[in-house]
Amino acid sequence: MQDFKDKVAVVTGAASGIGRALAQRFAEAGMKVVLADVEVGALEAVSAELGAQGFETLAIPTDVSREAEVRNLADRTLDELGAVDILCNNAGVFTGGLAWQSPHQDYEWLIDVNVWGVVHGVRVFVPIMLGQGSEAHIVNTASMAGLTNGPFTAIYTMTKHAVVGYSEALYHDLTSSGANIGVSVLCPELVDTRIADARRNRPQDLAGFDFSSPERELAEESLRTLASSKGVDPTVLADRALEAIRDNRFYVLSDDGWRRSCETRLEDIRLARNPTLAIPSEVE
Ligand SMILES: NC(=O)c1ccc[n+]([C@@H]2O[C@H](COP(=O)([O-])OP(=O)(O)OC[C@H]3O[C@@H](n4cnc5c(N)ncnc54)[C@H](O)[C@@H]3O)[C@@H](O)[C@H]2O)c1
Repeated sequence: MQDFKDKVAVVTGAASGIGRALAQRFAEAGMKVVLADVEVGALEAVSAELGAQGFETLAIPTDVSREAEVRNLADRTLDELGAVDILCNNAGVFTGGLAWQSPHQDYEWLIDVNVWGVVHGVRVFVPIMLGQGSEAHIVNTASMAGLTNGPFTAIYTMTKHAVVGYSEALYHDLTSSGANIGVSVLCPELVDTRIADARRNRPQDLAGFDFSSPERELAEESLRTLASSKGVDPTVLADRALEAIRDNRFYVLSDDGWRRSCETRLEDIRLARNPTLAIPSEVE
């Protein structure tokens, strides 16, 4: 997609971090931006901020883990803006801990948001895009953790590998159907956002919230410290995503030590050797 002017972009997780930066960049490129997020106060603040810069936005409170809310997001987008040209399935949450100790509710929470959130976006918006017939693009936010592996983050790693695999399969489905819809999978490295404080939006009905373990604390505290001290600015990711949409490029990867960890994993697979603990120097 080369021309963004007056097109419509829908961004989930738009009230903070990477989603907020995506919204800013899309607006600067002349698009109308639909902001979706479960954190209503922050969503309204971002909408007001973009509005004050003279940009056209539509803020729609949405919990991406609920299909009905994603359908409402699409219905309102079409009612008020008439089309959807770009969808960023970006909302995501993080927690750490040992795989066997983590409560069922942790699994539910991360799978509901990180995996079902993307699936709902695809199931609801792809038929609309196909019906429009015009060029469209979907960006699914995974992570470099979706291409690598390491300790104390089993649930997050599982969900992000799922997003990568699902996006690859989606790419093939769309290509073999002759659809005019591009797909990119955005795999950020460490980014300076509020991801380590994802619990702020954890649903009350998913108990197990009080679970604590040294591994969980270590994973969350390390992410908090490293994201704020070594994390790149979210606008870097937004720029990368925009470029990938322009070039119709699928893999949107960081170009640092994470990339080498990814290559080590691929080499492990190629040689059928056991997983190497290839922690990028950025997080040592
Ligand atoms: N920050 C990093 O280092 C990093 C690295 C790799 C991947 N990512 C991914 O980037 C994406 C954006 O995260 P971020 O780093 O900007 O974090 P963030 O916490 O700053 O922003 C995430 C946004 O998602 C929203 N959200 C949470 N649950 C939701 C739900 N059920 N429905 C709708 N919105 C919901 C939050 O309210 C928040 O506004 C996530 O998918 C995350 O996994 C982040």
